[in-house]
Amino acid sequence: MQVYLDNAATTRVSDIVVEKMVDYYKMDYGNPSSIHSMGLDSERSLKEARNIISKVIKSSSDEVYFTSGGTESNNLAIRGVLNTSRREKRHVITTKIEHHSVLKTVEEYAKKGFEVTYLNVDEKGYVDLEDLKNSLKASTALVSIAYVNNEIGTIQNIPEISRIIKDKSEAVFHVDAVQAFMKLPIKFKDYIDIMSISSHKIHGPKGSGAIIIKKGVKLNPLFTGGNQENRIRPGTENVPGIIGFSEAVKDYNKKFNENNEYIQSMKNYFIERLNEIPDYEINGSSDVCGIVNVSFKGMRGEVLLHTLESKDIFVSTGSACTSKTKKYSHVLEALGLDNDRLEGAIRFSFSKYITKEMVDYTIDVLKEAIKRLEIIIKGR
Ligand SMILES: Cc1ncc(COP(=O)(O)O)c(C=O)c1O
Repeated sequence: MQVYLDNAATTRVSDIVVEKMVDYYKMDYGNPSSIHSMGLDSERSLKEARNIISKVIKSSSDEVYFTSGGTESNNLAIRGVLNTSRREKRHVITTKIEHHSVLKTVEEYAKKGFEVTYLNVDEKGYVDLEDLKNSLKASTALVSIAYVNNEIGTIQNIPEISRIIKDKSEAVFHVDAVQAFMKLPIKFKDYIDIMSISSHKIHGPKGSGAIIIKKGVKLNPLFTGGNQENRIRPGTENVPGIIGFSEAVKDYNKKFNENNEYIQSMKNYFIERLNEIPDYEINGSSDVCGIVNVSFKGMRGEVLLHTLESKDIFVSTGSACTSKTKKYSHVLEALGLDNDRLEGAIRFSFSKYITKEMVDYTIDVLKEAIKRLEIIIKGR
């Protein structure tokens, strides 16, 4: 049995999505900027995709701009806003647990002389709202906070955070919603200025995503070139990627509640059966339906990961992007975990394709692996 429990890193592309994309590659492959009928057909597909996505997130369709994914959208949001900001507006607020596509971009602006405030989080990963209130000032140009953390599944109170920001400042509020999109109901127009989403986390293709920009928010594009995406993102659109993205949204959205309740039930069942293993702790809040981060006492996450892999179970230590760098996860460090917990952390992330049998198999393998590794450790 193969068990893929790394869905926060990426997901299996749905069959219907592949079919739609293949149709485009084979038959309707016109450039949406061409003025003949094949081009117009592609342009129509883009319009339809924009409508599908905007309906789900409660934005207007002309606020949706297609990009290559979450990393590009986060870069465009931060660089795009900060590159337009006046000399007296050179303060940025973010948190200590953001994705590297936010943190590394913001770091670059710190080197350029911008002032950056990194908000603290508590032991569950919730942003300190007092810290946010106290950090906002007249010079704050941008606040960037992720809706759901990709390593620990903590959901931030985005409507409340937005209220605090708007009460106290004129800052633009950017939300990295890559892990929240299709997992939570989002009302973009009510509380967000700019939002990033990505296709491959929701059973769509990789290299496809979007940035949603509220009308009136000023942002400089990163590229120069053609007039595509209203000049916010020049370059011939990745039409098959966009068609695949919107098809994945449409397909998932048909059963939005059922899908998420099912994923939640599989995660809960997993957590229930975890009790059969002595000495584990859940890191962060695991609020969102698909993510649970667990530390196994005395274990090394990487060793456990490869032991599971040898039984065809695929998980992650920390986040996929940092797991090769041998450094502790910055997210888990921000929670204040001790070295033992940092060392033994594994992220299990679920999807609609996970079954009860897969959970049972995973727990059985985990129990056996931990028992065996404990004997090896004690024998040293
Ligand atoms: C919270 C978060 N933001 C941004 C990204 C980057 O998205 P993409 O892989 O589409 O570039 C990820 C992906 O891991 C993520 O989890």
